[in-house]
Amino acid sequence: MKILVINGPNINMLGTREPEIYGTTTMDDINKELIEYSKTINYSIEFEFFQSNHEGEIIDKIQSTDANGLIINPAAYTHTSVAISDAIKSVNIKAVEVHLSNPHSREDYRKISYTASACIGVVAGFGKESYKLALNGLLNKINE
Ligand code: DQA
Repeated sequence: MKILVINGPNINMLGTREPEIYGTTTMDDINKELIEYSKTINYSIEFEFFQSNHEGEIIDKIQSTDANGLIINPAAYTHTSVAISDAIKSVNIKAVEVHLSNPHSREDYRKISYTASACIGVVAGFGKESYKLALNGLLNKINE
């Protein structure tokens, strides 16, 4: 079982970026916690972690993956990127969209997601726990 975790622009700044919204945990810590969590649910998962601030790089990664599932926090591209949405739809992969914050409780421009329509589900608002919840949902769907 291989799971690709993609984090979009500015997620590499977690820890110091607007901690009142995103918390103080770094992206590397979130990734490590996800690996440890997967062991506690008895899954042998090969994770690939990818972060980019560039839309095209994220699209290239999605197009070239051989993973069984995708957890993606498209960050600000959530609200703008038809291209990332199309990329997810262009490959045969089950994807879950993740957000640390709840974009629906924030500015109006965050209330639209272009990427959610390419995903089987969305987990938002649970901070770093969102990634673990997404993993659970994704594994359930893959094993259906
Ligand atoms: C985010 C929410 C987005 O609106 C924002 O642009 C981000 C992070 C989140 O994880 O809460 O960069 O995706």
